[in-house]
Amino acid sequence: MSHPILVTGAAGGAQGSTGRLVASLLLEQGVPVRALVHKLDSRSDELREKGAEVVEGDLLNPASVQGAMRNVKRAYFTYPVADGLLEAATIFAVAARDASLELVVNNSQFQGVPGDTAFRALQHAPSFRNLQHRLADRIFDWAQVGAVHIQAPPYYENVRALVGRSVAEQNTAFLPWGEDKTVIPLAGAEDVARVAAALLANPGVPSQSAYPLITATPTVKQMIEALGRAIGRPIRYVKITDEQWANAVKERLNPHALDHLTHLWQSFRKGEQRYQATDTVRTVTGRNPQTMEEFFRENAGFFAASSR
Ligand SMILES: NC(=O)c1ccc[n+]([C@@H]2O[C@H](COP(=O)([O-])OP(=O)(O)OC[C@H]3O[C@@H](n4cnc5c(N)ncnc54)[C@H](OP(=O)(O)O)[C@@H]3O)[C@@H](O)[C@H]2O)c1
Repeated sequence: MSHPILVTGAAGGAQGSTGRLVASLLLEQGVPVRALVHKLDSRSDELREKGAEVVEGDLLNPASVQGAMRNVKRAYFTYPVADGLLEAATIFAVAARDASLELVVNNSQFQGVPGDTAFRALQHAPSFRNLQHRLADRIFDWAQVGAVHIQAPPYYENVRALVGRSVAEQNTAFLPWGEDKTVIPLAGAEDVARVAAALLANPGVPSQSAYPLITATPTVKQMIEALGRAIGRPIRYVKITDEQWANAVKERLNPHALDHLTHLWQSFRKGEQRYQATDTVRTVTGRNPQTMEEFFRENAGFFAASSR
């Protein structure tokens, strides 16, 4: 009997929609997918049309997680940037242990300094949300469910969401990123999904338990120039304060996400850590990662004046 791969966050959401991408990549390879969606809507209809078994469920409800894991050996776990990550991860880990899962690919976040002890890694977390990810990773490890953690910095998709409107309307990116020499580590959500899908589809057990995934480490200046080249017009970067930024985005971001990103920007501005690109995408998928400029080019429509 073949076991479906359980994919959470499968409808996709406001962040990178990694669950939707993972489900699509697996279905394209003919791998059976059980897609856990938060609610039934046009996104779940689309998944069903692609061949997924769709189940509606809540990652904060132990019964629905346990039900979704029936006859499952492998799963992808992702949870939005909102309250409840530790509860959801713990429920998922307990259910996975009960169901004797052999592999859980956990969509985590980038982590500290190489060589850190487990405790120092907690102390180095740049935000409360990032600390929660570091704790969730440990919970999955302790559950002994074959967990592997994909640890990425902000997604290119996040940059698109942050500056799409102001670039379209004013050719300007207003951000609290400090001087234009500030380094912002990035990765594409598409690459996160490609790595996750490859780990889930490969018959063997992954060789590592953590997959740091950084594909670009541009300065703000380099990022803005790359965006301008990709969309064919010069873009301006305007440094604003944390307070100005919070006021501008508070209608669009929940308080949890706002707190997380505000602390991340502070950490990047201070240059608290040196970031280096990793070879994870190439090693796991055999292909080169998407570059930042490729992403901007492929998403040029989001930055076009007519898109608003
Ligand atoms: N964005 C970044 O730059 C970035 C960078 C690195 C790591 N990450 C990490 O990536 C994760 C987000 O992943 P993503 O991009 O796949 O998220 P996403 O696009 O926001 O999708 C989240 C999905 O989870 C579903 N969902 C929400 N609450 C749920 C619940 N209680 N039960 C079941 N499903 C629920 C949503 O469904 P509905 O829409 O129907 O509610 C949505 O389909 C976060 O943990 C974040 O820390 C993000």
